[in-house]
Amino acid sequence: MASSVHVEPLDSTLGATVRGVDLGAPLGDEEFEELHAAWLEHAVLVFPDQFLDDESHKAFSCRFGRLERVITRREGSTEVISNLSNVRGDGSLIAPDGNRALFLKGNSYWHTDSSFKRVPAKASLLSARQVPSEGGETEFADMRAAWDRLDAKTQAHLEGKTALHSYRYSQGKVGGLDVLSETDLDNLPPVEHPVVRTHPETGRKSLYIGRHASHIVGEDAAASRELLETLCEEACRPPRVFSHSWTAGDLVMWDNRCVLHRGRPYPSDQPREMRRTTVAGDVADNEWAI
Ligand code: OGA
Ligand code: MN
Repeated sequence: MASSVHVEPLDSTLGATVRGVDLGAPLGDEEFEELHAAWLEHAVLVFPDQFLDDESHKAFSCRFGRLERVITRREGSTEVISNLSNVRGDGSLIAPDGNRALFLKGNSYWHTDSSFKRVPAKASLLSARQVPSEGGETEFADMRAAWDRLDAKTQAHLEGKTALHSYRYSQGKVGGLDVLSETDLDNLPPVEHPVVRTHPETGRKSLYIGRHASHIVGEDAAASRELLETLCEEACRPPRVFSHSWTAGDLVMWDNRCVLHRGRPYPSDQPREMRRTTVAGDVADNEWAI
């Protein structure tokens, strides 16, 4: 039987809108396979009108693999939903210049989630509960197309190189490190990842860079940092980017193995309530996977 899933590619090298599926209900294997294939092809899927609660958000996310526990100040936490909101539990808004705001501000620089972990994340699924009247878009950039457009000399220079990714480095530049416990920071020592990654499921090469990448291992730190910054700036340009303007109820899922993303500013006196799960990288011994 033909499924009701409808995938409409966006006007850039990545991204598609998916309609005709209720992610809050259990998905059949065929429907799941259809979504999985669309996700591998388009790298970012936008699902309007889902209004997932935490349980259905987690249940859908789990179809893609084990979930990462969130980094938090609470010792021993097994929470898997990141609360990326400017709204506190009691409904009040966070201080625009406080540590929590600085922590969230880190997300406004191009990055790929958890690249500062030994095993970086596979997918992220972000759900909008409440959105501001303006701003607060999330932008996505296609690192497959960014790799493809590099000239042969630059590709040859980058091939086989690794970069050092460090949360203390990236978040230290922005501030707000105080929202994490020393234990969790100690659990996040700098790690090395290839600058050019081959996607384990599609075989496509992509640039693996972003704000957590401090410099290239074995090269001059300042010069290689500048190179990474230039690469990122040139990668994140049309037609390799699209901007998602959120409507409450949207769920967006992206492939952290080949996509960079960043959040855009919004008025600090308006609530923006976002919840995220992170699917852990597919390896057996992943200390962050639940
Ligand atoms: C994220 C993220 C940006 C945003 O959820 O991982 O970086 O727009 N979000 O909230
Ligand atoms: Mn992010």
